[in-house]
Order: sequence, then C-alpha cells, then structure tokens
Amino acid sequence: MASLSLSSAHFSSSRSSVSTSSLSPSSPSLPLLRSPIRHRHRSLRRLTSFSVVPHRTSHSLSTCNSQIRCSVAEPLKVMISGAPASGKGTQCELIVQKFGLVHISTGDLLRAEVSSGTDIGKRAKEFMNSGSLVPDEIVIAMVAGRLSREDAKERGWLLDGFPRSFAQAQSLEKLNVKPDIFLLLEVPDEILIERCVGRRLDPVTGKIYHIKNYPPESDEIKERLVQRPDDTEEKVKARLQIYKENSEAIISAYSDVMVKIDANRPKEAVFEETQTLLSQILLKRMIKTVMLIMKQVLADKASPVQDKWRGIPTKLNNIPHSRDIRAYFYEDVLQATIRSIKDGNSRLRVDINIPELNPEMDVYRIGTLMELVRALALSFTDDGKRVKVCVQGSMGEGALAGMPLQLAGTRKILEYMDWGDDETLGTFVKLGAIGGKEVDEEDDMFILVAPQNAVGNCIIDDLQAMTNAAGKRPVILINPRLKDLPASSGIMQTMGREQRLEYALTFDNCYVFRLLYYLGTQYPIMGALRMAYPYRYELYKRVTEENGKEKYVVISTYSERPTPEQINHAFSGKSREQSKKSSGFWGFLSSVLS
Ligand code: AP5
Repeated sequence: MASLSLSSAHFSSSRSSVSTSSLSPSSPSLPLLRSPIRHRHRSLRRLTSFSVVPHRTSHSLSTCNSQIRCSVAEPLKVMISGAPASGKGTQCELIVQKFGLVHISTGDLLRAEVSSGTDIGKRAKEFMNSGSLVPDEIVIAMVAGRLSREDAKERGWLLDGFPRSFAQAQSLEKLNVKPDIFLLLEVPDEILIERCVGRRLDPVTGKIYHIKNYPPESDEIKERLVQRPDDTEEKVKARLQIYKENSEAIISAYSDVMVKIDANRPKEAVFEETQTLLSQILLKRMIKTVMLIMKQVLADKASPVQDKWRGIPTKLNNIPHSRDIRAYFYEDVLQATIRSIKDGNSRLRVDINIPELNPEMDVYRIGTLMELVRALALSFTDDGKRVKVCVQGSMGEGALAGMPLQLAGTRKILEYMDWGDDETLGTFVKLGAIGGKEVDEEDDMFILVAPQNAVGNCIIDDLQAMTNAAGKRPVILINPRLKDLPASSGIMQTMGREQRLEYALTFDNCYVFRLLYYLGTQYPIMGALRMAYPYRYELYKRVTEENGKEKYVVISTYSERPTPEQINHAFSGKSREQSKKSSGFWGFLSSVLS
C-alpha cells in the first residue's frame, strides 16, 4: 500500500488548496469542492450577528481556596448520513451557517485530494469515479487527522459521509469519537436518482444546485455550473447499492443517538426539523451546565463572611464546653437544618462530633445532646410546628430488654428537662419512640435522638417504618449510627443488610462537624471538617498563634464529603502520589473518616 502522507496541509487547506481560478467552468468532469462559500459565510456571519453557536467559555469563580472551572456548553458533535443525493451536503451548508460547526465531508476531502493530484487523490480517483468506496485506511486517516484539529474540538464538528463502513465506525469507536446525534436522511430511491442526475455544482462558490429543484440564481452562474463525474444514472445506482450494503451495520452502531428524518421534503422543511433537534441538544446541555454552575456557586457561598459564620470557636478540648461554645454549635446546626427543610428536603442527618457529643470520648455528655435536641425542637415550635422528639425504645423483651448504652435514661432526661412554657411539652413537643406507630397525624416533624443499632438488633426497620408513615414530613436524625453491628453469634445482621445500608444512605447530610486529630491521639486538635447545608465541606487547620492563641484556617473546600486521602493531601500539601506513600502520621484520619 502506498504510504499515506497525509500532511496537515492537506487538511488545513482541503478546500482552499484547490485554487478556484484553476477550475475551469467549461470542464464538467472537474472534481469539485462544495465548501469555499461556507468559509466565507461563516466568517461574515461571525462579524455581523449573534447566533446559537456553542463555544467553550471558561469561568473561573474563585472562592476561599477553591476554583471552579467549567465550560458553558460542550460543542455539538453531529453525524449526518443517508444515501447518495439524500441532501447531506445541502443540509450541512445550512447547519454550518446556523451552528458554526466544522464541516468534515469525506467526499469534499477526497475531491480536494483528487484535484490537487496528490498520491491519495490518484488512488482515490478511480474508486470515486466508479462509484465505489475509497479504501478504509485512506479515509480513516483523513478523518482522524481532521477531527484532531483544534477548530473541530473548539467549535464542534459535523461529519458528513463518514463512517460509511463497519470498519470506519469501529475506527471512530477506538478513537472514542461519539456523536451527540446521528441524523439519517431518508429519501425514496427513484427521487435519489433524479436528484443526482440533475445536480450541478458551482465551482466558484461551491454551492449545490439542481437543474429543476434548485436552479441557479443567474445565467452567469448557470453557465459555469459543472456536473460531478459520479452523477450519472448508472453510477448513482452503483453508489446506492453500496450504501445499502453498508448502512445496516453503521446504523446499528449509532442506534442510540439516531434520528430518522424524512428528507423527501423541501430543503427548508428538512432543515427546520434538523435545526430543532440540534437546538434541543444545545439547550439541554446549557441548562445542565447552568444548573451545575448555580449549584457550585451556591455551594461556594461557604465563605465565612457570606455565611455569617464566625469561624470555629477555640478551646474545644477544654471540657466542659462553655455555654457560648454550645450555643454556637446549636445555632449552626439549627440554621443548616432550617435551610435544608426550606429547600424541600425531608430526610436529614446531623453529625456533630465536638468532644462533648462524641460518645467515643470519655468526656461525652448526654446533657449536651439533649440540649441540642431541645434547641432545635423549641426553635421549630416557635414557628408553630408540632415536633415529636423520639428516642428508640428498648430492643428486646423481658430480661433481654436493652438499649444502646449511650441512650440509657435519655427518655427520662427529656421528660425532666425544662421546656420553658409549662404547656410546651405535651402539646407542641411530644416525646415518642422510633417506629411506624409513633407517627401521629398532628405531628409536623420528627427529631430522632441518636438512633443506633444495638448488638444483634437493628433499628433500621423501625426507622424505615417511621419514615414511610411520616411521608413528606421532615425526619431529622441527630448523630445516628446506622452501621450494622454483628450479633454475638454473628448471624443476626446478615439478612437484608445491603438494603438496610442503602436505606441509611437516603438521608442527606445537612450538618457535619468533626474534629480531626493526629494519629493515636485526642490532643492537640489538628483541624476540623464542617459542612452546613447547602454550603461546601470546609476543611480547617488549627493554627497556634504567637500569642499562644489558636485559630482555625480554611485550607480547602469540597462539594462532596472529602475522602481521608483528600484530607491527608490538603494537610500535607504533598503531591497525591507522595501523600499516598505517607505513613502513620496521617493514617488516623482514615480510620476516623471511613
Ligand atoms: P460524497 O460526496 O459523500 O457523496 P454521497 O454520499 O454519494 O452524497 P452526495 O454528495 O452525492 O449527496 P448528498 O447527500 O450530499 O446530496 P446533496 O446535498 O448534494 O462521496 C463521493 C464519493 O467519495 C463516494 O462515492 C466514495 O467514492 C467517496 N467517499 C466519500 N466518503 C467516503 C467514505 N467514508 N469511505 C469511502 N469512500 C468515501 O443533494 C443532491 C441533489 O439534490 C442536489 O442537486 C440538491 O440540490 C438536491 N437536493 C438536496 N436536498 C433536496 C431536497 N430536500 N429536495 C429536493 N432536492 C434536494
């Protein structure tokens, strides 16, 4: 096989490489390009008007430590297919004018090679003139080269007449080239033949005419029109036959994005449909991108200033926590919860792990948990809501009755607590357990105090029954622990485990606060992770100042809960690879956060 010296020059000037002055209008067999006019049209249009032309636009929205980069809309990628003379070239002209895509027509590229007398052109000529397909390797190399150019990536592309064989479709798959839409123009055979035989091309402008359907605008143009050498009835029939032999395989490769278009209508009517289809894709894509940007912008309101968040209070390891510190967190949880409920969320989860609320630490205080629950409940009752505060009941019978140690006596404490106005408890605030039967019609919302599995007993079924009964009413879990615990025999928890865990994930985090420590220690505090709905996860580093005071500094933010690796990375400031290799020092984070 002759080597394929497809220099970029062939592509960069596939149309302009054929000097129009060298094309003699009197030579009807001269190979033609049908595009020069499109280039001119496009550049003119760009200077004079706005249109639905997608292009990549990078927006940088800097926030505390994060930067958002996104393209407003990915450019369109379109394939157009159909039998010879089904109107592909005609539609492409209109699509390019409207959408500014880079038109890649294998027919045009090959005709350019032929007219330039290149090696490729010489090889392709005989195939084209007989109406057969040019060998795959030639065409594939041409298209791959053209698609890889910057303009096609920037402006999007319109692939016309390719792929035309299964091997060509496979080559695109290997290159990971997939269209957004595959337009298939359908026209009855007898019309195709009539269209081909009557087709004429203007060698000066590259415009496609038809002696009957689309006659030239002037006698001057009419005189210079030429006919393609493969546009005789006999050759058209041969091309049609080849098209039919290959079309099935190609269509099946793109069936998921294929749209059939009745192209036996005036070109304007066909274009109307085509343009609607392409506009819809663009519109959907833009809406999606705008939504994404809005979500990110919203999440990026994490700036402490915008959020009125005064930063993390210091001296968190001084136990008991001062009243101020406690009030500070109650308010933070409350605001996040209110925002989430206002946004229509009804399955919420609060995870707050300051030392007094961390049952893993010996400074854990049930009173602080109860105080938090009361602060939330009373605040909602101020808004006229009836709140049910629920503590799970014992999870066994008789001598086996028991409940997680952390919750022992909780219900009694709630009953003895000061709920302000004498009538609040029992009217606006009611106490209950966890389960479907606990949901009364008058309840507006439910606060569940640290629901958790006890060894051998799973709370999730009761929880699920309760949320089913609650319907759209908010259910707020405060510091839940829904991981399955093994029974002493090790067999209790295996049935339905996956479904239970899946259910646990249906609750949205509306507040997360977790202190971070160095490996194997609980002092000094290394930093903290905070997320207050709807803002981003903020990673703070604790810094000791010269005067001995401490402060928390945001070192990174995340739209999703960061993994231990991401946290390690942010703290160490090492490259990802390095941080992966880092040993024990940061390892504690993994165990804490996984
Ligand atoms: P190529 O140039 O791609 O030819 P084709 O696929 O046969 O298609 P045509 O260009 O003939 O028709 P079209 O669908 O563009 O119709 P048009 O808009 O002009 O390929 C030529 C050759 O190159 C091939 O035979 C092959 O040898 C080789 N080749 C190309 N790609 C290859 C590949 N991938 N692998 C291997 N070889 C390859 O319209 C036709 C006429 O109808 C015009 O006169 C027009 O005015 C008129 N018309 C258009 N729309 C309408 C309408 N709606 N109503 C009435 N008339 C209309």
